[in-house]
Amino acid sequence: MRIPVPLDHAPRLLNHGPVTLVGTARGDERNVMAAAWVMPIDFTPPKFAAVVAADTKTRELLLATGECTLMAPTDAMLDVTYAVGTHSGRDGDKFARYGLAGERGSVVAAPLIAGCACWLECVRVPEPHVEQAYDLFVLECVAAWADDALWQRGEWQFAAGGPRTIHHLKGGLFFLTGDRRQAQR
Ligand SMILES: Cc1cc2nc3c(=O)[nH]c(=O)nc-3n(C[C@H](O)[C@H](O)[C@H](O)COP(=O)(O)O)c2cc1C
Repeated sequence: MRIPVPLDHAPRLLNHGPVTLVGTARGDERNVMAAAWVMPIDFTPPKFAAVVAADTKTRELLLATGECTLMAPTDAMLDVTYAVGTHSGRDGDKFARYGLAGERGSVVAAPLIAGCACWLECVRVPEPHVEQAYDLFVLECVAAWADDALWQRGEWQFAAGGPRTIHHLKGGLFFLTGDRRQAQR
């Protein structure tokens, strides 16, 4: 079940560096792409940096609307994550093509795609220089959600054999988020 996450915990959702999906919407048009180069950069308000390449449909919609969603897919979504990361929405509706279901966010119109481990609703903080020079977008998180089967007591609880978030190595090769270790002082 999708449950709200307090904004001060939002950076923890992507602290472990999983591959994300970036959702965008403009009117009736929706799109999603894979993005591995996404990271938290601030706590209050929570902000993230995301590389969104110049030739993507996602960038066109993000610039047009100033909004997007960041989501962490689970390993059950590995193939579709790769598919939306290797095909452009310019060539057709990826939601229809890959059977994705999603509802609009609570604050932004961009989609929250079913089956993900977490969902962050974001607005663009315009930084034209870094956008143009590095394809890097600063995104402020205005609402956050997580799957309560995986997120409890303010942290991820990935169980052996259960759904986990994914990390991209190269060319469609991924590994799954691994074991926990607590550092000792
Ligand atoms: C695992 C994976 C990670 C990716 N990470 C990024 C990324 O961080 N930034 C980016 O601009 N593109 C990244 N891509 C490529 C985009 O997802 C790809 O260009 C996509 O087709 C763009 O779709 P769109 O044109 O519908 O927006 C990644 C692709 C894969 C498969």
